[in-house]
Parts: sequence; structure tokens; C-alpha cells
Amino acid sequence: MDYLITGGAGFIGSHLADLLIGRGDSVTIVDNLSTGSIRNVAHLRQQPGFRYYIDDAANRGLMGELVDEADANFHLAAAVGVELIVKDPVHTIQTNIRCTEVVLELAPGAAWAIEEYPVVSVRPGRQGWRKVTLRVAGKPWLERLLLRLGPDARVVKGDPGTAPDAASRILARYDG
Ligand SMILES: NC(=O)c1ccc[n+]([C@@H]2O[C@H](COP(=O)([O-])OP(=O)(O)OC[C@H]3O[C@@H](n4cnc5c(N)ncnc54)[C@H](O)[C@@H]3O)[C@@H](O)[C@H]2O)c1
Repeated sequence: MDYLITGGAGFIGSHLADLLIGRGDSVTIVDNLSTGSIRNVAHLRQQPGFRYYIDDAANRGLMGELVDEADANFHLAAAVGVELIVKDPVHTIQTNIRCTEVVLELAPGAAWAIEEYPVVSVRPGRQGWRKVTLRVAGKPWLERLLLRLGPDARVVKGDPGTAPDAASRILARYDG
């Protein structure tokens, strides 16, 4: 299997990478080295099936590609540690909580989605439609949601690597 580990140069991520490479899987890590260290994975660099990106997990272009390639993802990138959190709470919130967001216009019949999913904001639109900002955990998640919503949803804004792709694939099913 191909695994993606964000925060792969950290404590848990690097041990997980060891385990997966050791059993013959492929591992890609993304780590901005904010608290982790490349030394944690230095021994893996020559291993077949291992690759690493020193980059931020908020880099949507890169993450979009890597998430697509992987069979499974471990999202361990996080601002960890009491001192770090106290010193820079905004950074902590941005790193740990903020992720890809998408803005959907939802028809009145799709109001259930607002109750069911992690909504950032809801604004009223025309004819009972609502403009809803949602956190997106990944492309498959968004695709499943759009499939459930069908013509009751329009993607109006989102990560260029995620939302429009997913939207056009799903909406094509309704066109046919
Ligand atoms: N260590 C534990 O005992 C423990 C226990 C329970 C849960 N956890 C959770 O597991 C996760 C990982 O913990 P850890 O102990 O390995 O922490 P860690 O600090 O060793 O690892 C986190 C890694 O994420 C990287 N990182 C931070 N922000 C990033 C970003 N924006 N983009 C890319 N990389 C980024 C850091 O450089 C670091 O390598 C955290 O969510 C933590 O809360 C840890």
C-alpha cells in the first residue's frame, strides 16, 4: 500500500513510517520541520518506497496530488506542546484546526447537510438557498457529499485541486 503521513518527521509519524517501510509498504511524508526533525527519518531516505517533502500540510496543490496518489493518509501534522501553544495560539489554531474549505450553495431541500457536517458558516442566499462554508477532509469525502446532495448543491468556491474536480465529476453523472 502507498501511505501518506503528514507530520512524518515527528515523534509518532517517524515511528509509523519505520513500521510501514519495514513491512514493505511505500511511504511519503510531508513535514515543515516546525517541531520535527529530518534526523528522525534520515535512516529511511535510502529505502525504496520512501520519499519526503519538506513542506507545509496547508500547501493545497502538493497535498491534493499526494492525497490522490496515496491509498491511505495519516494526518499527524500538528502544533504540539504546551509551550508552543501558549506562545503562539493563532499558529496552533491555524495548524491544527484550519484545513481545506469549500463553499457550497445549498437548495432548501439540502438543509440537512448543515446539521450533519462541520459547517464553518452559513449565509442566506436567494430563494431559500444558503451559502455554506464547509471543512473538507479530502476529495473522496467531498465527492460522497456531492453525490448525496445531487442538483441541490453548487460548488461556488474551493481549493482548486479539490472542489471543482470533484464537482465536475459528480455533476457529470447527473448530466448523463
Ligand atoms: N506523542 C504522543 O504521546 C501523542 C499522544 C496522543 C496524540 N498525539 C497526537 O499525534 C500527533 C503527532 O504527535 P507527535 O507527538 O508525533 O508530535 P510531533 O511534534 O513530534 O510531530 C508533529 C509533526 O508535525 C509537523 N508539523 C507541524 N505543523 C505542520 C504543518 N503545518 N505542515 C507539515 N508538518 C507540520 C512538525 O514539524 C512535526 O514533525 C498530534 O496530533 C498529537 O496531538 C500524540
